Amino acid sequence: MDKKAEALAAAKRAAGYKAADMITDGMVVGLGTGSTVYYMIERLSTRVKKGLEVSGIPTSFQTALRAREAGISLTTMDDHPVIDIAIDGADEVDPKLRLIKGRGAAHLREKCMAAASKRFVVVVDEQKIVKNLGTAAVPVEVLPFAVMPVLNDLRGLGCEPIIREAMKKDGPVITDNGNFIVDCKFSAIKNPEKLEAAIAAIPGVVESGLFCGFTKKTTVIVGGIKKCTVITSPDVVT
Ligand code: A5P
Repeated sequence: MDKKAEALAAAKRAAGYKAADMITDGMVVGLGTGSTVYYMIERLSTRVKKGLEVSGIPTSFQTALRAREAGISLTTMDDHPVIDIAIDGADEVDPKLRLIKGRGAAHLREKCMAAASKRFVVVVDEQKIVKNLGTAAVPVEVLPFAVMPVLNDLRGLGCEPIIREAMKKDGPVITDNGNFIVDCKFSAIKNPEKLEAAIAAIPGVVESGLFCGFTKKTTVIVGGIKKCTVITSPDVVT
């Protein structure tokens, strides 16, 4: 690992560990997906081995596998429709704590988890903090049956939609829910709430990676090499 990659891993680890330390005995915990959440699971695993009792709800096959290997008990939203705390990564975070997520194609379950959670903790490194959302493409999960008309409708919203291709499989990425991912690059996102609603209104769209509705229960932990910065919405009840 070169120095830059090491520094990035250290920042993600710091954010992930700090989030894992917010979990208390008996909590039902939403487990997000991705490389920053990986460190949160690592730290939570250590705490569970020392006696902490929690039940995790994973948002992807990746996280379910990692959590099982880490010795974390898993449950479902069927058994626990209200989650005490959800911890997840993000691709971009703006000053109002609105997010773009879905680089790993898990944003559908991640959004369901965030909606069901009393508290939503987002773990990122400094590179993810932006003034305006939209440098990253907005991932949109789409029902394969409807993909062609959906592409047309997405173009109508002013983006260049691209069906995400798999890396070690020919053809499109198939999500954990059996759908396609369409990455939508907008030149600028002036009104993220309006765009999230407009994408959601397209028949065949399952979910977009714009997360604008959870800001009031959001805490963002920005990992750094020496310290973490915590940004909490004034509405969060701790
Ligand atoms: C999964 O689909 C995503 O929403 C991730 O949570 C997000 O992309 C952040 O991932 P990293 O922590 O790996 O950057």
